[in-house]
Amino acid sequence: MNFKRHTVTAALPYANGPVHIGHLAGCYIPADIYVRYLRSKGEDVKFICGSDEHGVPITIKAKKEGITPQQVVDKYHKMMGDSFREFGISFDIYSRTSNKIHHETAQEFFKTLYDKKVFTEEVTEQYFDEKANQFLADRYITGTCPKCANENAYGDQCEKCGSTLSPTDLINPKSTLSGEKPVLRKTKNWFLPLDKMQPQIEKYIESHKDWKVNVYGQCKSWLDQKLQPRAMTRDLDWGVKVPLKDAEGKVLYVWFDAPIGYISATKELLSPTPTLPIGEGEKKQQVPPNGRDLGGAAWELYWKSKDTRLVHFIGKDNIVFHCIIFPAMLMAHGDYILADNVPANEFLNLEGEKISTSRNWAVWLHEYLQEFPGKQDVLRYVLTSNAPETKDNDFTWKDFQQKNNSELVAILGNFVNRTMVLTQKYFANTVPPADEFTRGDLLILEEITKYPQKVAASVDAFKFREALAEMINLARTGNKYLAENEPWKLTDKKRIGCILNICLQISANLAVVAEPFLPNTSVNLSAILNIGKLNWRDAGRTDILKTGHPLGIAKLLFEKIEDDIIEKQIQKLKSSPPPLSPSGGGHGGGNSPMATIDDFKKLDIRVGKIIEALDFPEAKKPAYKLKIDFGKEIGIKNSSAQITKNYTKEQLKGKLVLAVVNFPPRKVGPFLSEVLTLGVPGDNNETILVEPGKDVEVGGKLS
Ligand code: MF3
Ligand code: ZN
Repeated sequence: MNFKRHTVTAALPYANGPVHIGHLAGCYIPADIYVRYLRSKGEDVKFICGSDEHGVPITIKAKKEGITPQQVVDKYHKMMGDSFREFGISFDIYSRTSNKIHHETAQEFFKTLYDKKVFTEEVTEQYFDEKANQFLADRYITGTCPKCANENAYGDQCEKCGSTLSPTDLINPKSTLSGEKPVLRKTKNWFLPLDKMQPQIEKYIESHKDWKVNVYGQCKSWLDQKLQPRAMTRDLDWGVKVPLKDAEGKVLYVWFDAPIGYISATKELLSPTPTLPIGEGEKKQQVPPNGRDLGGAAWELYWKSKDTRLVHFIGKDNIVFHCIIFPAMLMAHGDYILADNVPANEFLNLEGEKISTSRNWAVWLHEYLQEFPGKQDVLRYVLTSNAPETKDNDFTWKDFQQKNNSELVAILGNFVNRTMVLTQKYFANTVPPADEFTRGDLLILEEITKYPQKVAASVDAFKFREALAEMINLARTGNKYLAENEPWKLTDKKRIGCILNICLQISANLAVVAEPFLPNTSVNLSAILNIGKLNWRDAGRTDILKTGHPLGIAKLLFEKIEDDIIEKQIQKLKSSPPPLSPSGGGHGGGNSPMATIDDFKKLDIRVGKIIEALDFPEAKKPAYKLKIDFGKEIGIKNSSAQITKNYTKEQLKGKLVLAVVNFPPRKVGPFLSEVLTLGVPGDNNETILVEPGKDVEVGGKLS
């Protein structure tokens, strides 16, 4: 199929937290590489994204922060948009689903399906919280998992055993809003009959055996289990209102409205008039930068024309929604094209643990941008070369340092720098002529012409790690060529000129081929070479730089990252609460599990008095053995504590502390630590004890 244009989407992130490296590696960097590559080839492409501002994750966050859902989305929409922009993700639009145009588009879409009698209406029994006077979303119900007896399973999933659940499966269900037992109440909702649509969907998936194995495999397994009708409306007060008379208090299912967000954002991008936000959201709306003179239907080319290629970049938890549910919606509507590919990535872990927003186990993009100014490309490089393309992968700070120092600095930066320094020295910074080639020269010239093809083939196959490796190989080839020819040892100026000319052509090629991966580096390299922006079709040419062309000012493309910088990042991570293994809440992303008051009540936290502190030479890290008196009921207990930097043994004696007294005792070397003494991180990364502010009675319980 010959496509005339491309619509490329990146999953709309929930506006309930800042962007972290898991998001970047999962979909935004690969999508950006792909789009930059298409643009470099001169393709017509629209790159669409925005904030997903509806759904339960937003309302949960609002409850947690004690603000309204609108305040949550305003805060994070701005934050995410800003950091994407500064990082250089080149969306044509970063929109949001609270926009008026989105509410209208989603409602119209729903209404079309409704009028076509696509939906089935079903009255079901849903849990209702009588105290909070509302129906409960699955995430608002906890209870005991029927499969593994985990007492803190959610209404949709048990995070301990991984089972998918429905709220009525839970034993002893409880509302997280009030802590009460919810009651079942009848409610009517509109369902997409995926069961009836199974044959069409199967046909669609089967026509895409070319998809990545992880994606195709997941689709197959959903289909094998037989699709079930799925409710497209929910009893919730946050979202796009269901546009029907008998639907008071109901909104569209977030997975119905969010993917339509891609369509509304495209409309917004290409609409002749600026759109207005709904409610209190964004006050100023930007006038769309392009498409103003295209008339109202320009967006339709990108969504309805068969010669448009639609590609969705997502993380693996989004596969079913983009490969089955959204296509089913589009099929049922009838006017739209379907995704031609859905290159989903697996997840990225951080230092061996699952990324978790709630436990602050993440590298946040806005913090990275502040702490590593001008180093956007380093993170892009590391996350691409380590992308979780076929399996979950791990980000470590040590690897970040290593890739920067021994690949970006030592290979790419070093090659360009050596070439520039030598040209400056021998040819006053102008491109020397090359007219007599050796056999070795001819071989390398031929190699140069092949690189863009290799990189392109990998990008076309969504193998970005491989593509990046090919790109770096070009610099490696250049280094090898320099090392073999040793121009600095030669006296024949003609020969030196020839070698450097070839190295300069390689550098110019790098400026083109690196652009999708390392856009800032490409700009810097172009400035060093004193050339304008090149296109993909220039890549492979060995005469990009003409003889006599004056070069720009040499500058290092990358700088070494020292140990102390990396150590600081590692310490920063370690000072955040340790992640709970094996599974925290939500994948690298969002939905932090909420603790209930009952979770809290399970902990027995008491006031104790330290009667003695002893050295603990057998401990791996400097620590004391404490003997703590918790009064009559609990008695005297032992505890180990890593607080030697902050307290002397004498200072500890007589101190009142707080400790969890009902954890199972833990062996620390030869010592049995029976209680967990509570502390907070001090600025030297050792603990500061939490002490009651007044002289309270020993044994008192924290409440
Ligand atoms: N907000 C979802 C998530 O973060 C992704 C939505 S993608 C869209 O998992 F297609 F629905 F927009
Ligand atoms: Zn379970």
